Amino acid sequence: MDRFKVYITRQIPQEGIDLLSRVADVDVNPEDAPLPHATLLEKAALYDGIIGLLTDRIDAEFMDAATQLKGYANYAVGFDNIDVAAATRRNLPVSNTPGVLTDATAECAWALIFAVSRRVVESDAVMRSGSWSGWGPLQFIGGDISGKTLGIVGAGRIGTATALMSRGFGMKVLYTSSSGRRNDILDSQLGASLVPFDTLLQEADFISIHAPLTEQTRHMFNAEAFAQMKQTAYVINTARGPVIKEDDLVAALQTGQIAGAGLDVFENEPNMAPGLASLDSVVVLPHIGSATKSSRTNMATLAASNLIAMLQGRQPETCLNPELYDS
Ligand code: DGY
Repeated sequence: MDRFKVYITRQIPQEGIDLLSRVADVDVNPEDAPLPHATLLEKAALYDGIIGLLTDRIDAEFMDAATQLKGYANYAVGFDNIDVAAATRRNLPVSNTPGVLTDATAECAWALIFAVSRRVVESDAVMRSGSWSGWGPLQFIGGDISGKTLGIVGAGRIGTATALMSRGFGMKVLYTSSSGRRNDILDSQLGASLVPFDTLLQEADFISIHAPLTEQTRHMFNAEAFAQMKQTAYVINTARGPVIKEDDLVAALQTGQIAGAGLDVFENEPNMAPGLASLDSVVVLPHIGSATKSSRTNMATLAASNLIAMLQGRQPETCLNPELYDS
């Protein structure tokens, strides 16, 4: 039988490529940079399967070009880069990588909680500059964590894992739910409370965002939302940048409306809103939530096995349009 032809839009861990190579000839973008959209469209026309990244726009234009494509596998759990409805209309199966990066991303949210509230980055900079003059009672005073209230916006897999990690700190946990459904794990294991978004804004000391980017969540955190938060509260985002209106966040930090922000994602990656980088009250990371050895490797093998299934006409393990396989 002829081997399939697969394209990967950027180098991923070799384990995924090795898996695919058992059934396909695999080409990988040689540049360690996002693929220009025009090149993506050219590739779409030439391959049976594609693994792409959150930076690749998988839209109707892509699908029109993809005349022989049997499946598209996203190397990410977030899939706001894919027009899933358009893919379904064209009978194109698409998949993502949930589950394998849950703990890594939750740990990243905690890294930001600690770093921003305990002023870790600022303190590190002073040490490295050689300007520290010795211990002082008023130096680098930050916010408390133990016993405080953690607000989880979007209590799915990663939000749940982030909340469960608060157990060591005796925190009260609040969460929101777009469906209005209670989270049994958080309710039974943490005695958490499902609350309206406004209540969470007003009561939480740390708000950790885990909601997917949709038309409903875009700019959910704007000037009005920040105005409701405590002046001592911090906002943490490891989900998608546009959930926060970044100019409004800069203004809220500049005026002391909120205490700080820990961000792994940005509204217009790789750029940051003017003013953000000069604020001591933010910690900014280059979208590294899933960047652990095991998570990135497992994302590669899951994306590869999903694509193999789609090429062979089977339903991939983590399919975004499983209805295509209903017989
Ligand atoms: C995702 O998977 O959606 C992250 O943003 C990158 O790992």
